Amino acid sequence: MEKVRPGTDAARQLDGYVMSTLFYEPSTRTRLSFEAAMAKLGGSVVSTENAREFSSVAKGETLEDTIRTVEGYSDVVVLRHYLAGSAKAAASVAAIPVLNAGDGPGQHPTQALLDVYTILREVGKVNDVRIALVGDLANGRTARSLAYLLSMYSNVKMYFVAPDVVRMGEDIKEFLDSKGVDWEEASDLKAVAAEVDVLYQTRIQKERFQDRPEDYEKARGKFIVDSKLMDILPRKSVVMHPLPRVDEITPEVDADPRAAYFRQTRNGLKRLQVTAQQTALFFGQVWPEQSSSAA
Ligand code: CP
Repeated sequence: MEKVRPGTDAARQLDGYVMSTLFYEPSTRTRLSFEAAMAKLGGSVVSTENAREFSSVAKGETLEDTIRTVEGYSDVVVLRHYLAGSAKAAASVAAIPVLNAGDGPGQHPTQALLDVYTILREVGKVNDVRIALVGDLANGRTARSLAYLLSMYSNVKMYFVAPDVVRMGEDIKEFLDSKGVDWEEASDLKAVAAEVDVLYQTRIQKERFQDRPEDYEKARGKFIVDSKLMDILPRKSVVMHPLPRVDEITPEVDADPRAAYFRQTRNGLKRLQVTAQQTALFFGQVWPEQSSSAA
């Protein structure tokens, strides 16, 4: 993928287009990378950070009415919301594209796109990859979307390593079964780490446990990536994480060249381009593996 240089035609390709970013939940990477990508491509952004508090949602406006209003000011909406299914609901009333930037514990498809792009760059392939999805797999929409997207590649092996209270949802497992994907649940992270190309760690999402704090205590700290685990991970494997992290990857791991999570974050800048180019994939078309020399 070409780098966009200021002053070039590429840097003007979205000149005159406006993107609305509506975020009802906190975000650093998704919102800022979408907005930076739009700026780099010559477009403009209108935004309401913390839409729950600083938009007319605070006065009782529904999501649908907000979308009907915002579409009059913009060409595309990027929506993060706390409810699963919210992006679909927004899209059902919108005349312009709505990009799901994370819908509660539902899906985070643009993160999955940049994650697959990162796997391709880091491992050199997506087909035949062995991946451990670790941590809060019940609430972790990035892991759910990644499992979904990887099912479209061939011969991918998935290990789900999660505390009992936050195991991968049955909906995803049934979907993978329907696609004939090889997956298994495991509880021994060390044994799994020795087998995989990608260890995809996730945060235990404390904000989703407000009505059951005892389950959060059961889940936190159970699976940690530290220097001892890195001793087990194969030399050519990588550690990914959608970030933010809390304590599930210890800071000493950051200096290890196999720690790919900050490189992964930088790939987020490409998600606007990748989303546009790869939307076809969600309609059942195969994303051909590209040369890892693509920048
Ligand atoms: N990975 C991710 O969605 O990060 P943010 O919550 O910071 O956007």
